[in-house]
Amino acid sequence: MSQESTISIAEADYIAGAEQAMAKAYAPYSNYPVGALVVAQDGQMFAGCNVENASYPEGHCAETAAIATMVMAGQQRIQTIYIMSQDEQGATPCGGCRQRIREFADNNTPVILCSPKGVQKRLQLSDLLPHAFGPEFLI
Ligand code: THU
Repeated sequence: MSQESTISIAEADYIAGAEQAMAKAYAPYSNYPVGALVVAQDGQMFAGCNVENASYPEGHCAETAAIATMVMAGQQRIQTIYIMSQDEQGATPCGGCRQRIREFADNNTPVILCSPKGVQKRLQLSDLLPHAFGPEFLI
């Protein structure tokens, strides 16, 4: 049973997109597939999966791929990000991905951790990256 069982029709689509992305993960070394789905400010969806390689640290995370796809499409604001793993605790983004999300999001941007059973945790970015250093420090 998911922690949060009430989801909207739009959110069901986002979660399904994240699960489809996870199904494409290339994770033969960790066996830990992850999918990410970014909903951009204009409502477009951008998905990514983790892609590993034989030189272990050189792989990239699902969130990184989804953000890169969003930026390539000309979008630079994350409305919400969904992260899908098989983990029923909900996989939290790594430190580097928290910073990458921060670049295009706000402290209160929803970060929604899912498993195939549904939403496991609803967080906001500041839960994961308090006192974040963001672009406003430099611009
Ligand atoms: N991974 C992600 O893609 N996103 C996360 O949020 C956590 C970890 C990937 C990196 C690596 O391919 C595998 O999961 C195990 O660490």
